[in-house]
Amino acid sequence: MLPCINWLQPLLALISSTLLTRGHNCPSSCLCPDHHTVDCTGRGLTRVPDSIPLDVRRLLLSNNWIPWIPADFLVLYSDLVYLDLRNNSLYQLDPGTLTTSSRLVFLDLGSNNLTEIPSGTFGESRSLIKLRLGNNPYLNMVGRDAFTGLTSLRELELERNGLTELDVDILESLPSLRMLRLEGNPWFCNCHFAKLFVWLMENRHKLPRGMEGIECSLPLDGRRVPLSLLTEDSFRECRGTLTITDYLIVIFSGISVSVVAIMASFFLASTVHCFQRLSKGSKGDEEEGID
Ligand SMILES: *[C@@H]1O[C@H](CO)[C@@H](O)[C@H](O)[C@H]1NC(C)=O
Ligand SMILES: *[C@@H]1O[C@H](CO)[C@@H](O)[C@H](O)[C@H]1NC(C)=O
Repeated sequence: MLPCINWLQPLLALISSTLLTRGHNCPSSCLCPDHHTVDCTGRGLTRVPDSIPLDVRRLLLSNNWIPWIPADFLVLYSDLVYLDLRNNSLYQLDPGTLTTSSRLVFLDLGSNNLTEIPSGTFGESRSLIKLRLGNNPYLNMVGRDAFTGLTSLRELELERNGLTELDVDILESLPSLRMLRLEGNPWFCNCHFAKLFVWLMENRHKLPRGMEGIECSLPLDGRRVPLSLLTEDSFRECRGTLTITDYLIVIFSGISVSVVAIMASFFLASTVHCFQRLSKGSKGDEEEGID
């Protein structure tokens, strides 16, 4: 009995100390106002601090100089519900970094230096409700499947980025979307944009300030036009534009037309030739008959 207790005591001490440090350990330069919050706002950090308690739920890292998120970050801090990385130096989201976050509800990546949101970036983040990606001035590419799987996403901020176009399918893949910000991007008013324009007209109520602040530049002289001045009729020339499928149909029907034409001309040529020979033959007969 006694040896058993002797053996158990250190084990219990170890377990309780790990449990305690899990809750109480606070990175040296940060504040931990409660057991689930770590606040490292504006601490001049150049990387995500070590020794963040593993059960952290709210992690505030805004106003630092953090250039990247470690790939296993959300695997490690799997209880994270609220992650604020606003106003850092993030330039890239490594594939997989954000796909494992099943609890994350709020993610702020605004005011960073992201250039691209690749397809599948937020793979499994089914709890995500608010995603802030605005004020990334070089952000000019959003992958076609960048937001697929975000079935709970209600608020998406993409304002003041470098977007010139956005596939409507990206927005249509968000069944819970209630609020969208797109203002302050250098949109091109081309036929690709026409589809987004139609979507925006139909979903105007999702834009906090309607079409206000959204402008696109004209293909010819680059002049910026507020969307509020445009109508679906402004893009009427685009109705005649062909999609790739249309082009393929045209090309293939073109090929078959030319094949038919070539065959027809062969047939015609040989018929003509045949008639010529026939008529020559009969002429010869006639000539023979005259002689
Ligand atoms: C962004 O972070 C830097 C560095 O901490 C700070 O000086 C600056 O005021 C912050 N900008 C905003 C808009 O909060
Ligand atoms: C942001 O990215 C651009 C181009 O990708 C680069 O030229 C610029 O230096 C970056 N700025 C910061 C603050 O990292």
